[in-house]
Amino acid sequence: MTTRFRIELLGRRPRSTFACGDAALDRYFAELVSQDIRRGLASCFVVVDKATERIAGFYTLAATSIAVSDLPDEMVRRLPRYPTVPAALVGRLAIDLGFKRQGLGRALLGNAAARAARSEVAAYALVVDAANGAAAAYYAAIGFRPLATRATSLFLPLALVAKALPTGDPA
Ligand SMILES: CC(C)(COP(=O)(O)OP(=O)(O)OC[C@H]1O[C@@H](n2cnc3c(N)ncnc32)[C@H](O)[C@@H]1OP(=O)(O)O)[C@@H](O)C(=O)NCCC(=O)NCCS
Repeated sequence: MTTRFRIELLGRRPRSTFACGDAALDRYFAELVSQDIRRGLASCFVVVDKATERIAGFYTLAATSIAVSDLPDEMVRRLPRYPTVPAALVGRLAIDLGFKRQGLGRALLGNAAARAARSEVAAYALVVDAANGAAAAYYAAIGFRPLATRATSLFLPLALVAKALPTGDPA
């Protein structure tokens, strides 16, 4: 199947023209993400417009954990009495202004969830850090729920991803 975009590891392509409308996220992507990768603090994946090879969006992925006390009671009841459960963290997600509202944000979240689900390192859920209230509303609309004591972080159990997100290549 031919698709317009592909998702891949961040390579050496130019990043300084990327603009998502959030200056802190743009600066992180232009200047700081490669340090995080070198130090083993995050991986970074990009969605690329195949026709122009332009970066349309990116996300970072790292291991994290969730305090079980931050989960809703109905989930805790189905878990063993561990203090924490493992999770995969999308610390940053951004789509370039020229590519918004085409489903790429959802496609990147689905891609992150698919990577977490097939990793040899187990994860119970995907966690996202919302940079602002609008981002939190975006994640909540997809089905992510807030963690009780981490106000800006939301989670989605990997078992529920198939219903909430696309996990194939973006169209
Ligand atoms: C939030 C962001 C990642 C969404 O990416 P996107 O590719 O435009 O989103 P999608 O195409 O997957 O989804 C679009 C839908 O989400 C909804 N949506 C988009 N931004 C939203 C927001 N801030 N709040 C609530 N809903 C939002 C819209 O209703 C839209 O649906 P519609 O087109 O049918 O109206 C992107 O707007 C972005 O990069 N924002 C700036 C950076 C940021 O806040 N990142 C997230 C926190 S780290």
